[in-house]
Amino acid sequence: MHPPIDSKLPRVGTTIFTVMSRLAAEHGAINLSQGFPDFEPPARLTELADHHMRQRGGAGNQYAPMTGLPGLREAIAAKVAEYYGCRANPDSDITVASGGTEALFCAIQAIVRAGDEVILLDPAYDSYEPAITLAGGSAVHVPLLRPGFGVDWQRLQHAISPRTRLLVVNFPHNPSGATLSRGDLDTLAGLLRDTPVFVLADEVYEHMLFDGRSHHSLLSHAELAERSFVVSSFGKTYHATGWKVGYCVAPSALTQEFRKVHQFVQFVVATPLQAAIADFMREHPEHSRELPAFYQAKRDYFARLLGATRLRFEPAHSTYFQLVDYSAVSDLPDVEFARLLTTRHGVAAIPISVFSAEAVASERIVRFCFAKHEATLAAAAEKLRLL
Ligand SMILES: Cc1ncc(COP(=O)(O)O)c(C=O)c1O
Repeated sequence: MHPPIDSKLPRVGTTIFTVMSRLAAEHGAINLSQGFPDFEPPARLTELADHHMRQRGGAGNQYAPMTGLPGLREAIAAKVAEYYGCRANPDSDITVASGGTEALFCAIQAIVRAGDEVILLDPAYDSYEPAITLAGGSAVHVPLLRPGFGVDWQRLQHAISPRTRLLVVNFPHNPSGATLSRGDLDTLAGLLRDTPVFVLADEVYEHMLFDGRSHHSLLSHAELAERSFVVSSFGKTYHATGWKVGYCVAPSALTQEFRKVHQFVQFVVATPLQAAIADFMREHPEHSRELPAFYQAKRDYFARLLGATRLRFEPAHSTYFQLVDYSAVSDLPDVEFARLLTTRHGVAAIPISVFSAEAVASERIVRFCFAKHEATLAAAAEKLRLL
């Protein structure tokens, strides 16, 4: 018999991604639920990883520096300078982490103290709140506006209290694909100007914007960048979600605190994978530039197929997710509908209400991931046509 546990995370169960992926496997459904590609990373990238793993006589398979391989931090610095005009110092402002998830966790642990409030914009990615709870803080939920999932600036302003320590923003937004404009960044800067609130910007979908839109990173806004941790993920950009390599860019004082946590959560990230990504970034800078067109073609292909179903949607502005309104097909709440879609109709999706503290009762929306081969999308659409 073990002593009573008294869970630190009593409300946390298995994530919806695990639940839906498992259900998809059990029922042989096409899995458009969890956000991962069903195609390979660039062949050159895996070749480089293999090369670095086979290096003999060096330290290629031993611990990397705690902050990340210098070559990778330099490549990240060059990238954020090119894309966002941000002068990040690779030694003091950039840390390589074990995926976006670890970077988010470390930023939250570094900055949130017992009793602090952290504002989340719902629907919010599911890893934020447990990290806040473990830090002794509490989440304050501000819903994004419908139908476009824009920020409700007035509600956000009202949510800021003397206890607010951190605001988490995730744009390009999972699940909606909403983006921020330059004007939004100015509004946000104005709102926070006289407050001691830090910002954690989850920008893991930074390279997936469509129809000529651009990503306005918080790194491109000098005033916001001064108080922000900005997180990205190579898993998303290089079709290698299983590698779990990401990073955090933050001013040196914030990075110092971030690293205090990172060195005891993860310490170091897989050395040969870091080396491969650093080489690939230098050899193939066009990969990120071509990513919008690559994913826009998939979005358009999937949208054409969905046009023949009774699902309603506006083509996603960004990310590799497409939201669809299924109210013409069913009146079931989204969690039940997603289960039924998987078990009876053979396509797995993610219900979006699970990402909100208070679901919009009338909302009938699920999320599909279109980071898939055309054949996978076509097979899924064939089943969705029968709804
Ligand atoms: C919004 C958001 N943030 C963070 C992550 C995690 O990124 P990583 O796989 O690099 O840990 C994901 C992955 O799905 C995501 O959708």
